[in-house]
Amino acid sequence: MREFSRIGVVGCGLMGAGIAEVCARAGLDVLVAERTPEALAAGRSRITASLDRGLRSGKLTEPEREQSLGRLSFTVDLAVFADRDLVIEAVAEQRDAKTEVFRRLDEVLGSEDVVIASNTSSIPIIDLAAVTGRPQQVVGVHFFNPVPVQRLVEIIPTQLTSPEVTEQVAAFAAARLGKTVVRARDRAGFVVNALLIPYLVSAVRMLESGVASAEDIDNGMVLGCAHPMGPLRLLDLIGLDTAQSIAESMYEEYKEPLYAPPPLLRRMVAAGALGRKSGRGFYTY
Ligand code: CAA
Repeated sequence: MREFSRIGVVGCGLMGAGIAEVCARAGLDVLVAERTPEALAAGRSRITASLDRGLRSGKLTEPEREQSLGRLSFTVDLAVFADRDLVIEAVAEQRDAKTEVFRRLDEVLGSEDVVIASNTSSIPIIDLAAVTGRPQQVVGVHFFNPVPVQRLVEIIPTQLTSPEVTEQVAAFAAARLGKTVVRARDRAGFVVNALLIPYLVSAVRMLESGVASAEDIDNGMVLGCAHPMGPLRLLDLIGLDTAQSIAESMYEEYKEPLYAPPPLLRRMVAAGALGRKSGRGFYTY
């Protein structure tokens, strides 16, 4: 089975930083790209903070923290990705941003063998594959937040993905990163978000219609159903802008009202209340 050892991660937000961290902790050489030096510095701090948290909770030792940091390098220039053998795209959940990255990667990646994976939650993988000259090498690899903690990875081949690439990437996620793999067809939301997003937007509708307070909705699901966090706190963790983009892609795909982002979600995003990352969402951080 093919081994991937030189990994590229494009985008170092919540998800990209987590993906880069788990790859570095797994002993891989990781090159991380962001658009600006400021975004790169923020991404690097995010990874360092998460490694520090792992150190505090005894999940890794000081030498392991140092070695993980030593395996990470950072750039604002995608041209230096030419030597990578697996590149994982994790930029904002916007179709234009993702297709632009795929176009650029296709230009700069040397060998035809390089695999390009997307961490998209809901944009059709085939739309990203189609802007490259190597659609057989493109696959969806969807991680969950926080990436170092959540054990699942969804693997999403398109009609054009080579079966070998699908197997290689699934084996990589399982054997190298220690994740449990589920496979899904290339349909918006795959397995998890197809079930999770209608639940999350229902909680926003419930709050908006005054049925219960945010605390009571969340306590209901934490204490009544043993979820680790309630739906509104989970939306704050995911990021309201990201959740809105996922809901929009799913609504575009299925035209089912249950996926449509409710007005309160839209207004909060417009007001910059994006959840934890902006300091304010359904709760204040
Ligand atoms: N990085 C590394 N470790 C982290 C972490 C992070 N960002 N966040 C939490 N942890 C670790 C902590 O170190 C802690 O480890 P120990 O128990 O060994 O000390 C453990 O996780 C639990 O953390 P906390 O005690 O701080 O807090 P918690 O018990 O409330 O758990 C949580 C926090 C892990 C986020 C938990 O509430 C949870 O699992 N929530 C649900 C998250 C979820 O559903 N994620 C999926 C979102 S959907 C998605 O991502 C896909 C998409 O496309 C939208």
